[in-house]
Amino acid sequence: MGKDSKKKKSSKKKKAPVYLGLDKNGEPPEFPYVRASSSSIHNRGLFAATDIPEDDYVIQYLGEIIKKKESTQRANAQHDLSQTEDVGSVYIFELDDKTDIDGNFDWNIARLANHSCSPNCEAQNVEGEIWLVSLREIEEGEEITFDYGYALEHWEDHPCLCGSDNCVGHIVRKEDWNKLEKLKKRRKKKKVS
Ligand SMILES: C[S@@+](CC[C@H](N)C(=O)[O-])C[C@H]1O[C@@H](n2cnc3c(N)ncnc32)[C@H](O)[C@@H]1O
Ligand SMILES: [Zn+2]
Repeated sequence: MGKDSKKKKSSKKKKAPVYLGLDKNGEPPEFPYVRASSSSIHNRGLFAATDIPEDDYVIQYLGEIIKKKESTQRANAQHDLSQTEDVGSVYIFELDDKTDIDGNFDWNIARLANHSCSPNCEAQNVEGEIWLVSLREIEEGEEITFDYGYALEHWEDHPCLCGSDNCVGHIVRKEDWNKLEKLKKRRKKKKVS
């Protein structure tokens, strides 16, 4: 490597972070449907501040747009931190094939929404923005939840404490519930024999 290429490398500018959902003054919008409070599911959660009609936009998931490689590094670091501190293990949201949103910022209160096996909202990608949309009428005071949609792969890392009658015990997307059940049965059999 010549002198010039070294120079080039050191003068390479770091790209300014790109934030999704902040206004031109860098302020987050207000979301009057929700407030933050402590949750029986995990640490803090998001709660309905008023009655919310079915099929309405409840809150947008704000954050920094990052590439997949950066996302993996941040996700691993957050997971490690969650093993020793009372913080969530995942605040990354998939945006598309190439990019994710890191929502781990105080101004993104949507990050406080917990997972439930019987959710009252679902996450929708609305023209490149992630919104939680109500699946049914939600009463004031109810905790706002959605299906995190985690694949089966790392099921053991994500025990579910949602407390709903149909809770499957781990945070796994609904399409994989049958596979999860079979997997758990096989494990049980192995242990007994
Ligand atoms: C995006 S945060 C949700 C907010 C979190 N309760 C907090 O106070 O920061 C996601 C993390 O919350 C926890 N969590 C969310 N839903 C859960 C559930 N149903 N059961 C157990 N932990 C849950 C897990 O640690 C997960 O990685
Ligand atoms: Zn559950």
